[in-house]
Amino acid sequence: MPTITVTPIESALGADVSGVDLRAPIAPEVFAQIRQAWSQHLVLRFRGQRLSDPELLAFSRLFGELDPPGPNPYGKPFLAEFPEINVISNVKVDGQPIGNLGDGEAIWHNDMTYIETPPRGAMLHALSLPVSGGDTYWANMYLAYERMPARLRERIAGRSAIHDATYNSAGIMRKGMKPVTDPRQAPGAHHPLVIAHPESGRPALFLGRRRNSYIVGLELQESEDLLNELWEHASRPEFAMRQVWQLHDLVLWDNLATLHRRDSFDPDAERIMHRTQIKGSRVKAHDVAVAA
Ligand code: SIN
Repeated sequence: MPTITVTPIESALGADVSGVDLRAPIAPEVFAQIRQAWSQHLVLRFRGQRLSDPELLAFSRLFGELDPPGPNPYGKPFLAEFPEINVISNVKVDGQPIGNLGDGEAIWHNDMTYIETPPRGAMLHALSLPVSGGDTYWANMYLAYERMPARLRERIAGRSAIHDATYNSAGIMRKGMKPVTDPRQAPGAHHPLVIAHPESGRPALFLGRRRNSYIVGLELQESEDLLNELWEHASRPEFAMRQVWQLHDLVLWDNLATLHRRDSFDPDAERIMHRTQIKGSRVKAHDVAVAA
């Protein structure tokens, strides 16, 4: 039986997968091993995968229906021919950005949690890279929940937060949005702070992004203080892995059990990534899901 090799990157999360060519049809038993590795390590890195866009889409679709990218600041898809692919890039052609997020830091976030049914997972394929900078980090939110002080766990039990839709992770306002002056009024979905992962059933801390977040039912200052404490805990280096990109890396991640962020890089360098997202369903609170 064909087998893949799975080598952990960090004890917290992440693994390199080798022994598979993602351009070729993938045997069901090999795909089952990939799914098993994904569930165990949350972030999988496949090095040296020179995929065309249709090949990226075909591999992504093995995991389920794809989610089109959320609204970008420019109001139209970056790749008209492949609207399910999002482009993450700082490159401009004739003064027009070919992709999203620019060259600055992208803060810790889960993707698109401002909608009711956030993507289950996502992939990034590296097509052009700066010599240095632009590293991406993922953090394991199962672990963050497991290692949370009991008093903090008690304070968030049964609570939900607003996941603001106004800004992307680079701090750029999305088209059609207005500045938020009070996080209690921020537009965006409300999700439980502790979700039951739809496949494993395990509890995971589910924060979305810090900006304009609000814990429903608390006084504003109390919500701010608690969120600051939660974010400080969730972003501890012990929960994280660092991805120093190589050309044609393909990274697949669990968008419900991990957060990610990106370093800034030289604005004169060119960085181009193509991204796909796997559709998810409405997330459930861990306590509710366990009781049901
Ligand atoms: C993202 O936040 O989805 C992009 C991460 C990256 O550019 O490495």
